[in-house]
Amino acid sequence: MRKAYIAGNWKMNLTPSEGAAYASALKKACEQAGADVKIMIAPSFVSIPAVLDAVKGSDIIVAAQNMADHKSGAYTGEVSPLMLLDLGVKTVILGHSERRQYYGETNESINKKILLALELGMDVVYCVGETLEEREAGKLEEILSAQLAVGLKDVAPQDMSRITIAYEPVWAIGTGKTATPEDADDAHCFIRKTVASLYSKDIAEKLIIQYGGSVKAGNVKALMAKENIDGALVGGASLSVEQFLPIITYNK
Ligand code: PGA
Repeated sequence: MRKAYIAGNWKMNLTPSEGAAYASALKKACEQAGADVKIMIAPSFVSIPAVLDAVKGSDIIVAAQNMADHKSGAYTGEVSPLMLLDLGVKTVILGHSERRQYYGETNESINKKILLALELGMDVVYCVGETLEEREAGKLEEILSAQLAVGLKDVAPQDMSRITIAYEPVWAIGTGKTATPEDADDAHCFIRKTVASLYSKDIAEKLIIQYGGSVKAGNVKALMAKENIDGALVGGASLSVEQFLPIITYNK
């Protein structure tokens, strides 16, 4: 059985004090609601210490939205995974489409980060997904295959239990357009099959695949009802507890 995994990616939103207030409210709300899914929030780097403090005593995972591809050195403006680990952050989102689109990240450069995160014992949420042009050109499977084969290159089979895949069609992110549950499930099914051929059927069966792209309270249930959709990576609707809680408690 794959445990549902609901994650909130705050992107470049919420200051440290706003983040801390949100996180303590979320902790309280989840306790009251008896939330029984795996929950993660990813604040910006500078908000992480305050947010970690606010969720102390709960099972809410605090993740980073990115990390450097080196442990230390002359890389101005970068944040080392060792710094994250020192704070107590063990999970990192890598390869988000905004990192690919605006900061030039590629399957190859993301692979380097994935291998480093795994080497250091971290868990990874690896984002994949096609642009609208790629989908319309019939390249969905080609793009996903490359993102998986190159992004996961040299990832050992025993480390695959620490990888979560987030399928995020770029055209559905922040646009209000969600993939239909059927379209999303088809893509998830293709991802699972690809991982089965790269690794094994058993590893693919255990793989958690989140859907991301305009997930909200009104569509989460239909998405989560699909066989291959095991969770959600939520952007906009994770920015307030009022909107995020009903997503977390979709099955209540
Ligand atoms: P969105 O973002 O929910 O605002 O579409 C999702 C994401 O980019 O992870």
